[in-house]
Amino acid sequence: MTSAPYTPMTPAEVRDLRDSLDKQGKKLVFTNGCFDLLHAGHVRYLNQARALGDAMVVALNSDASVRELKGPTRPINHECDRAEVMAALRAVDAVVIFGDPRATSLIETIRPHVYAKGGDYTVDSLNPEERAALENVGAEIKILSLVPGRSTSSIIERMAAPETSHKPLRLGVLGSGEGSNLHAILDAIDSGRLNAEIAVAISDQADSRFLQIAKEAGTPAVHVQGGHNPRRFLDAAQAEIAGHLQAAEVDVVVLIGFMRILKEPVLSLYAGRIVNVHPSLLPKYKGANAVQMALDEGELETGCTVHLVTDEIDAGRILAQAKVPILVGDTAAILHQRIKKQEHQLLPQVLAEWKQS
Ligand code: GRF
Repeated sequence: MTSAPYTPMTPAEVRDLRDSLDKQGKKLVFTNGCFDLLHAGHVRYLNQARALGDAMVVALNSDASVRELKGPTRPINHECDRAEVMAALRAVDAVVIFGDPRATSLIETIRPHVYAKGGDYTVDSLNPEERAALENVGAEIKILSLVPGRSTSSIIERMAAPETSHKPLRLGVLGSGEGSNLHAILDAIDSGRLNAEIAVAISDQADSRFLQIAKEAGTPAVHVQGGHNPRRFLDAAQAEIAGHLQAAEVDVVVLIGFMRILKEPVLSLYAGRIVNVHPSLLPKYKGANAVQMALDEGELETGCTVHLVTDEIDAGRILAQAKVPILVGDTAAILHQRIKKQEHQLLPQVLAEWKQS
């Protein structure tokens, strides 16, 4: 049995859908994009967006507008095919195709209740014209985080150079403590969830469990003398670390419970390629006492954040977060153990999705 190809809805039909939902006190979510080669990042994003209301319309950029946005080699898939695939997703109730560079007139016609946008946008960095249209129609604006490392462009790159994409990511891990996150990374590598290898493990604590775990796993493990101040590192130690990372041909530097502040030359050598895992929902509760601070503030939930490292402490771009509820009777130690369980999932996942530049 063959079925007819999908016919995208017209804006007027979507408006009817919106009006009938509105009468029932329900909400229509609107989002837009090119969605050229659909991947898991899109699916997760669309599921999150759909959960913001009772039905969802996706406005797909027409072939001509994708070309304008992404260059002459795109889209890979024709708009009719993209619409058909999109409409087959559980999260999607309707698809419209639009050719304008902006979704402004579509927003005005459809009058969605919720507008979902993904990526590095903030409400302030939305296109002013679209934002004004959204405010005019009273749409609630929701910014959703994108899944790191998943993008149509990275799929295209992997197809163009398959040999580099299968190369394991070489990790340089730095830690001072228990090493439970190092353990989680090693587990993820062993089970095939993470295509990586620990190129070098570095610690400022010679007798740390972290170094012991690295040695037991047979990975190169080095102790670097940091000096007397437990938070700061001598300049010579900063240079020594850079030397170890470079000698090990590290792709990504991972700070896991590394208690000293990393400075130049590592920050510049690995700019955009240093990640840290922190036990709070940043930007809340930066610094070494993050778990206790969340408890002291009477928060009902906290969590963990994987973020890029810059010269400002715990302030680089957030790559992923996971929430953890705070329960009656929690002490900082009990809560920290629960946060770590989330870290053990989140950090390997971010690394598995890392896009090599
Ligand atoms: C983690 O909670 C991490 O968020 C923080 O230090 C802790 C390291 O734990 N930066 P472990 O050494 O991996 O067990």
